[in-house]
This record gives sequence, C-alpha cells and structure tokens, in this order.
Amino acid sequence: MGESFFKWDQQKLTTHVDAMDREHQKLIDIMNRLYERHEAKATKPELQSIVRELVSWTVTHFEHEEKFFDTLAYSQASVHKKIHKDLIARLKEHGGEFEKTGVLTPAFFQFLKTWLTAHIMGIDTKYGLIASQKAG
Ligand SMILES: [Fe+2]
Ligand SMILES: [Fe+2]
Repeated sequence: MGESFFKWDQQKLTTHVDAMDREHQKLIDIMNRLYERHEAKATKPELQSIVRELVSWTVTHFEHEEKFFDTLAYSQASVHKKIHKDLIARLKEHGGEFEKTGVLTPAFFQFLKTWLTAHIMGIDTKYGLIASQKAG
C-alpha cells in the first residue's frame, strides 16, 4: 500500500475537543479509503458506496459540530454554518459528477484535501479555542 492520501497531524489539526477530533479522524479515514480504492481501480459500485458514506458522514459530522458550538458563546456560529452548507453543496456536486461519469477526478481529491486543511485548521480550531477557554 502506498502513501495515505491524508495523514492525521495532531499538532496541526487538533481542535482540543476530543469528540470532534475523533469525528475528523473518521472523516480522514473515509477519504483515505476512497483514495486507496480509487488507486486500486476498484469498481464503480464499490467507490460509489464510499462516496455516499463520505457524504453522509460529513452531513452527520457538521450536524454534531453545529449542535456543539451552539452551546458555546461562539460569535462565528452562523458564518461557520454557512461554510458547512457550501461545503456540502460542493461535495454533493462532486459526488453527482462521479455518479454520472464513474470517474473520481483529481479536482475531487484536491477539493477534499483543501477542505480538510483549510476547514479543520482555519475554521474548526476557532470553536476549539473558545471551548478550551470555557473549560479552562
Ligand atoms: Fe466545521
Ligand atoms: Fe469539522
């Protein structure tokens, strides 16, 4: 097996909220599996089931995250929700493209990678900061 698509990096990616870190790790696991099976030239139905799992877990994760940060005095909550909405729309767009063509494009994987680094590091760590201030 080659390099993973994406490696969890505790220092860069932690939100300091264990439950959310675990959910992010699960997200990364699904993405890595999708990439591995794509590289292994898996059949469309197999890839399709992973893409659907990715979409459904992302929707679930965002719901959990929103419920969590609604319990905090987090001023960016509505902006963050808007970003989630846009990400889901773009993820579903890529997913729909794949359902039609049966091809997972480099653009799809690029989107997943950018989303992970930019969203987890740039956005999710903000509620993490507020949660840890509240705890400490
Ligand atoms: Fe988020
Ligand atoms: Fe997140």
